[in-house]
Amino acid sequence: MTPDDQKRISGAAAADLVEAGMVVGLGTGSTAVWFVRALAARGLDIRGVPTSENTANLARELGIPLVGLDDVKTIDLTVDGADEIGPGLSLIKGAGAALLREKLVWEASHRCVVIADAGKQVKKLGQAFALPIEVVRFGHPHTGRRLADIAAEFDLPPPRLRTADRGVVVTDGGNVIYDLGSGGIDDPAALGAALKSITGVVDHGLFLDLADEALIGTDEGVVKLVP
Ligand code: A5P
Repeated sequence: MTPDDQKRISGAAAADLVEAGMVVGLGTGSTAVWFVRALAARGLDIRGVPTSENTANLARELGIPLVGLDDVKTIDLTVDGADEIGPGLSLIKGAGAALLREKLVWEASHRCVVIADAGKQVKKLGQAFALPIEVVRFGHPHTGRRLADIAAEFDLPPPRLRTADRGVVVTDGGNVIYDLGSGGIDDPAALGAALKSITGVVDHGLFLDLADEALIGTDEGVVKLVP
């Protein structure tokens, strides 16, 4: 089974958790696309809260009615992908630059389910993926230097401003992303708290104590993990 097949069965399994009448958080990324497609195929009477403009566009195309986070008191279930799944279902998210809206939607949710291919599991967060940090654009080079100081305190290399073909990547919220490559984060909670203490940092891609379960696509089928 290819990683994409694993993502597909994981997304389909998560779509089966949705019940009519629910408000559903719709994640972002290639695995979440499989979930949104499988959810639309079920034709249930639900409302979706998208975590990015990309997901909102896909959901609209597929006929899923959408509401904004402002319009709902609570979200019954959010389903979203992850870049790394570490011990206790600690996560790194944000490769798709949607981490801020994702975290806002997750925190407003009654239940959060991670969907992923088997390759996303790591023994220690930061092993395979850089940690994305969302930073306000105003004065971001200064914030970037403060981030480098924090990184040095944690024996990590300086973070790098994320760019793509068209220049600096700007998030749906109008912010920029610094990626903190590491090779392994010893104390994710302490690092997360230190990053949040910097004024220009809006949030980071460490999702700790937020996931209620994970549905991992494997060659043997979908495996459910709990923290
Ligand atoms: C988006 O910003 C991310 O948090 C994604 O959810 C994450 O990168 C997983 O993406 P894939 O499902 O494409 O691997």
